[in-house]
Amino acid sequence: MTITTCSAPGKIYFFGEHAVVYGEKAIACAVDLRTRVSVQPSNDHVISSSLGTTGLDTVRHPYITQCIREMEKYFNGCVRIDITSDLAVGSGLGSSAAVTIATLYALSIQFDTGHTLDEIAAIGHAIESKVQGAASPTDTFVSTMGGVVAIPGRKILSLPRCPIVIGYTGRFSSTRELVALVRSVKEDYPVAIDQIINTIGSLSGYGEVLIKDRDYAALGGLMDINHGLLDALGVGSRELSNLIWAARGAGAWGAKTTGAGGGGCMVAITDHPDEVADAISSAGGEAIITSPTHEGVKVE
Ligand code: MEV
Repeated sequence: MTITTCSAPGKIYFFGEHAVVYGEKAIACAVDLRTRVSVQPSNDHVISSSLGTTGLDTVRHPYITQCIREMEKYFNGCVRIDITSDLAVGSGLGSSAAVTIATLYALSIQFDTGHTLDEIAAIGHAIESKVQGAASPTDTFVSTMGGVVAIPGRKILSLPRCPIVIGYTGRFSSTRELVALVRSVKEDYPVAIDQIINTIGSLSGYGEVLIKDRDYAALGGLMDINHGLLDALGVGSRELSNLIWAARGAGAWGAKTTGAGGGGCMVAITDHPDEVADAISSAGGEAIITSPTHEGVKVE
């Protein structure tokens, strides 16, 4: 029996999460942390992950269930899907996009459906939007293509050569709830909040130039500003701030929340990752040293 295994990367945001939902520019970067998905024919639909083993299940495995529903017109019978991941669910590192893209790609290879990568990214985006209520194409696009991408133009930037240290708070971050929270504060105070969202978009513009110039110290400074604006939108938390200040205290060039916020992860860029990782661990976070990657979705 043929088994197809594919993997797709998670990502961090240098700039622009939440603002990108309103059309502002964001810069996201695939990182060397991957989700692996194996697909094989089976008598019934079976989905097995760290969240348990289920059939089609829109509560426990909503993204994979939607992937199967979307792709089952291209094959007969049922599939067994097994997932392993370096990315904690709800950690803000694009775990849902990575599992969605790796699953869609594995199904497309297994059943030779002929989907292009652009089509995989587009179907993945539609699935994220459906499950989350609202989603920008950022996570699914970056997970499909890899590299550093400026959204919404989908411009591929040069890969930064700086180590990245991620600090995980251990607390689940619900993208759906946090996107709704920002929408609600934006509706309550449009004049004030629209300016914050617009300013985040301008930081992405400046950041794009600094990435090109490889000026990581200045890039870090802008990431610090972006973090302050995310706090202003209400998506910060004490745990995230503790890890961010610990990273800055250890000399990181810059540190910010990455992804939806609330809990989840922060990201720092630095030229001495071990010290920053130690500081994050001492502040109670789970530290992960990683790097930007060119590799998007691929067959393993
Ligand atoms: C979540 O990883 C990033 C958000 O901007 C939502 C999205 O872009 O879909 C908060």
